[in-house]
Amino acid sequence: MDEKIEEFSEKTLNCILRETVDAMENSKTQIFDIYEGARSEVEHIQMDIKEVKEKVYEVIEKVDRLEVEEQAAKQKLVRVSRNFKSYTESDIQNCYEAVKDVQIRLAIAREQEEHLRHRRDTLEIRLRKLAATVEKSKHLVVKIGVVLGYLSSQINAVVTQIEMLNQDKMLGVQVIKAQETERLRVSREIHDGPAQTIANLIYQSSICERMIDIDSDEAKAGLQEIRRQIRHCLGEVRRIIFDLRPMSLDDLGLVATVDQFLGKLKTRGNLSVAFNVEGIEVKINQYVEVSIFRIIQEALNNIYRHAESPSAELRLIYGKEYMSVVIKDIGKGFLVDQPHDNEEQNGCFGLMGMKERAAIIHGQLLIDSKPGCGTEIRLLVPLSEVCESDIK
Ligand SMILES: Nc1ncnc2c1ncn2[C@@H]1O[C@H](COP(=O)(O)OP(=O)(O)OP(=O)(O)O)[C@@H](O)[C@H]1O
Ligand SMILES: [Mg+2]
Repeated sequence: MDEKIEEFSEKTLNCILRETVDAMENSKTQIFDIYEGARSEVEHIQMDIKEVKEKVYEVIEKVDRLEVEEQAAKQKLVRVSRNFKSYTESDIQNCYEAVKDVQIRLAIAREQEEHLRHRRDTLEIRLRKLAATVEKSKHLVVKIGVVLGYLSSQINAVVTQIEMLNQDKMLGVQVIKAQETERLRVSREIHDGPAQTIANLIYQSSICERMIDIDSDEAKAGLQEIRRQIRHCLGEVRRIIFDLRPMSLDDLGLVATVDQFLGKLKTRGNLSVAFNVEGIEVKINQYVEVSIFRIIQEALNNIYRHAESPSAELRLIYGKEYMSVVIKDIGKGFLVDQPHDNEEQNGCFGLMGMKERAAIIHGQLLIDSKPGCGTEIRLLVPLSEVCESDIK
């Protein structure tokens, strides 16, 4: 129940954060649209002002021309009126009409000039206000961009953190499952192997005990059988111990332990492994050595179980600063980044465990495989961090 609530809140939180980032991105776009709109309005007004100014100049010129024309018509009227004897009444009337006509046109032109000046002033006031809005929204876009960038990265970091925590949680569960599976396997092996044999031996030894007085030869043969079975049982127990923790790692080192493991692998099937050691073996911290051994063990087990390869190659290369391990087969290969067939049922912890172990010992693990092209696994471990002498 608790887990469900936790899962729900994690999902909801993730969702809310993602939606917040999206909403912020949207607002940023909207503000940018406002800025763009205001900017294009400014451009239009600037064009209108230019047009109105040109018209104002034209009207001013027209007014000037009409004023000159009015002066000329008035002077003519005065002249004609003074010499009314030389002119007819209709001449005087025409001059009078001409003055009136030019005055009407002048009045219209002045009216137009006034109107255009007013329009120009209004447009200029609007332009100043809009230019201020453009400037402000430009600043706002930049500022919001910076703030959003910061917030988005923070939120992304939080989301990534949540995802990592979820992964860690999943990994923790998988590790516990893997531990339980391993314990189950070991308990089954002890139960089906040595425990059965010992129970059988107790039964056989009590028969021998009874047979000693009745038929000593039969009892002797029984004891020999018991010894054979104890030897077999000891072999089983040693194999289980080796699987749990190869003691030879501490006593004989990595190369000898790998050699021992290859010997056991040989008895299981017909996979032939060419084993080469390059450079001089150095003693490495035991936990690191166990990890390297487990990675080799898993890689070779995988070749044995999945690769369908007749042979494999194992190289341990001891350099000055690094040691590397190369495990190569010429088998069927697989798609490294794809989930594997039996992942659902069996867990497929092998490759994951190899990666985890490599990371713990500060190593790098590269898995190179393609269907039909075999598999090559390379492990690189820095010796400076893991040499025995460095660890007190
Ligand atoms: N050398 C290889 N050649 C071909 N396929 C491989 C090889 N190594 C791994 N695989 C494929 O990758 C899968 C995953 O391997 P992994 O070791 O993680 O799981 P597993 O071996 O199936 O199970 P276990 O958890 O017991 O190791 C295998 O099931 C197999 O399909
Ligand atoms: Mg495996």
